[in-house]
Amino acid sequence: MNIYRYDAVIVGAGLAGLSAAIEIKKAGLKTCVISKLHPLRSHSGAAQGGINAALKEKDTSAHEFDTIKGGDYLGDQSAIKTLCRKAPETIRRLENMGAVFSREANGRIAQRAFGGQSEPRACYAKDRTGLTCLQTIYEQADRLGVEFVDEWFAGDLLYDPFDRKAYGVAAMKLKTGEVAVFGAKATLFATGGYARCYAVNSNAHANTGDGLSLFLRKGLPLEDMEFVQFHPTGLAGSGILISEAARGEGGRLFNARNERFMERYAPQKLELAPRDVVSRAIEREILEGRGVGERKEAIWLDLTHLSAELIAAKLPELSDLAKTFLGLDMAKDRIPIRATAHYSMGGVPTDESCRAKASAALLTSGLYAAGECACLSVHGANRLGANSLLEAAVFGKIAGETIVSDMPSLDPIKASADDAGVFLDEIRKLLHSSGAESAAALRSSLQTSMTQNAGVFRNRASLEKQTEIINDLRDRFSRIRISDKSSAFNTELQEALELGHMLDYSALIVAGALAREESRGAHCREDFTARDDERFLRHTFGYLNGGKTRLEYAPVTIGEYKPEARKY
Ligand code: FUM
Repeated sequence: MNIYRYDAVIVGAGLAGLSAAIEIKKAGLKTCVISKLHPLRSHSGAAQGGINAALKEKDTSAHEFDTIKGGDYLGDQSAIKTLCRKAPETIRRLENMGAVFSREANGRIAQRAFGGQSEPRACYAKDRTGLTCLQTIYEQADRLGVEFVDEWFAGDLLYDPFDRKAYGVAAMKLKTGEVAVFGAKATLFATGGYARCYAVNSNAHANTGDGLSLFLRKGLPLEDMEFVQFHPTGLAGSGILISEAARGEGGRLFNARNERFMERYAPQKLELAPRDVVSRAIEREILEGRGVGERKEAIWLDLTHLSAELIAAKLPELSDLAKTFLGLDMAKDRIPIRATAHYSMGGVPTDESCRAKASAALLTSGLYAAGECACLSVHGANRLGANSLLEAAVFGKIAGETIVSDMPSLDPIKASADDAGVFLDEIRKLLHSSGAESAAALRSSLQTSMTQNAGVFRNRASLEKQTEIINDLRDRFSRIRISDKSSAFNTELQEALELGHMLDYSALIVAGALAREESRGAHCREDFTARDDERFLRHTFGYLNGGKTRLEYAPVTIGEYKPEARKY
């Protein structure tokens, strides 16, 4: 058994993980980045349309207010201030590192309109913004000598619940099946989102949210898991992301009656209302029979009034996607789209310095989270487009700085071979189970039922039904059969491990949604249609003990912006 020792171990190689790695490495500490993918395949690369910063405004107050209102007042306002105030310097930092942003004719960084914004604030690199940022930051991390441990699957968080201290992870090398211990004084999770638990989603295959369940399995909480973002424009059928940039550049939505229906749902902002509002409008049109396409399960996204030159210059990636997956030419054809599960507002609760919480009141030691897998909460109940790359870059860097400043007070590394025991047992059980259940079938049932029962619209009956379905799937998961017993790239085993994680945190999504008897941001209850600040202006902290969910609540940090009705 190999035991590796580092000052800091980072799990996840997207924008947040790499931003942290750079800070830690610059401080002369020994760090590695563990990822089940090559870093350049991390999902930050899929954020197409932009990264927000108030570059041309008098200050960042409008960005702050838009973000707070966009999040339906559930966001913690002091963390949101940090996010928005650090945005301009973050763009400059990325640019100084080499990120090539699109420019205006006068040479300034170009910014496009995105949903829920009072000013065009999304800096962009055509429609490949995330990829540009990820490539740049990866090059810099590599140049500094950050150690990458690619294609290793982190399967257990090493954590002592009695003194609330983390000390690394156990992980499996996908190429050989070898399990090793990565001991560390500081352990940072930056493992991204979990929309793969939905059938229709915009996420990469790897976005199975493993990092989140590792926390749950140690008795640690997840925050606000009921708030799942559905992006309005996924390609019909596949859910593949068609960036909000399409609407930012002037794209319009039409139903089967050729109505520009957003006029009814958001008369001022129209297609550039926040994502929760537009996704609900799209799904409502479909539910009420005004969908388009053969099965009437889509809506038209229309860019045909834009010039072919503009589309080629600013939306080349989207144009390629429409051509490749639907054989359509955006400059001439309307594109069928539908809401797609996209982003998780909830995640590992942290303080504003990215230290993970053991409960609403208590912090852990040596344990950190940043990026989409964390919940600070800067997005509240609904994230504004182009705030996710920003969060990853801002709080990834902060996480790195926190780890550097905490380092002298953290315990020495205490990893031993025994620390691989829990993960080895999990693998052994899966490989030797004599059951007959198929992971692929269970995963498909989970995804389909989550879309149906805990999707854009939810209600008590659908959520109770989903609770039963998850309980049943968990039971069947214990009788799973893996026919491939080999060690090299055993994707059947990996998918079974991922399914176990998906079942764990999905239970928290549903429990939080069932208990939250109101509609707020992306959480839309058909049986409780109003926001209820009296009872639910609070964060959910969810735990999983012995397969049972338990919820607690924590106050929201309100600042100068008091909750108001949210109109667009
Ligand atoms: O629509 C988009 O380009 C996605 C960006 C985001 O989620 O921030």
